[in-house]
Amino acid sequence: MKIGTKVNIILIIVFIGGILISGTALSNVMQTKAENEVTTKALTLMQVANSVRKYTNDRIQPLLLPKAEAGEQFIAESIPTYATREVFEILRKNKQFGNFLYKDATLNPTNLRDKADAFESQIVQRFRKEAGLTSVSGFRTISGEDLFYSARPFKIEDATCLRCHSTPAEAPKSQLATYGSQNGFGWKLNDIVATQIIYVPAEQIFANAHRATFLVLGVLAIIFTAIIITVNILLRKAVLARIKRIAHVAEQVSVGDMNASFGKQDKDEIGALAEAFNRMKYSLEIALNMLSNNPK
Ligand code: HEC
Repeated sequence: MKIGTKVNIILIIVFIGGILISGTALSNVMQTKAENEVTTKALTLMQVANSVRKYTNDRIQPLLLPKAEAGEQFIAESIPTYATREVFEILRKNKQFGNFLYKDATLNPTNLRDKADAFESQIVQRFRKEAGLTSVSGFRTISGEDLFYSARPFKIEDATCLRCHSTPAEAPKSQLATYGSQNGFGWKLNDIVATQIIYVPAEQIFANAHRATFLVLGVLAIIFTAIIITVNILLRKAVLARIKRIAHVAEQVSVGDMNASFGKQDKDEIGALAEAFNRMKYSLEIALNMLSNNPK
């Protein structure tokens, strides 16, 4: 095999190996970065949702509950879940947040809008089974779009909640008038009744990560190709062409052409080789002369 071919094969193997290794490493890093980005978004929104819940619960409800108790109109705006859902509906009106979603996905909800779908029900069941589990997250596709979800268990920790969620008899009449007496009852203290779940669109973030990975790999490929071309040119000019010439001259000398010359050589390893050949050529010439002068 020719030296050029060997060098090129080795370079190409190193090149492919390099691209594979750096590609895998880079894609892992970008994937983790994208996951962190969606997780951070989901966490931030979850905190906002909880702040809205807390505000509604601590500040709004005490103001409005007496009215509901008195049997006047039931004011849904005083209910944390309602307030949070509505705040998110307003947020979703902004184009860039159109696919963000907050839901208190409940197995047996007062408002059927909060009903857990099959996927969310499974999450609630999981929280019920695995007591220590504080959150689950992952990806799911809703109407063709990839969404990242982050879910937490929703546990009834406060007995006051049961006023409206245990039996219709105990609930404010005005609540029954609005929501009926079929749904959202029979909850118990320390029950996990729902999962607080937040959906963040993930497609764009992951598409960006992929694009960045391909861009860097593309640049690497260009650099590697440039290296291979440069090495080839150098190899041909500085080494192979000169070795060929020395081989040619050596061949001429071997068939008796003592006028063949190595020409001017650089002072490097190949130059030294030519120099050594030259000395050999002179020694050969002297030896031949001696032979022809003393034919005995
Ligand atoms: C004054 C009555 C009342 C009290 C007190 C109350 N809730 Fe509710 N809750 C409701 C109503 C009504 C809804 C439905 C709101 C809507 O339209 O989204 C609701 C909704 C919910 C939901 C969403 C699922 C569903 O049923 O639609 C959860 C979860 C929930 N409440 C938990 C709690 C917790 C926890 C507490 C105590 C901190 C509490 N509630 C106290 C009346 C009440």
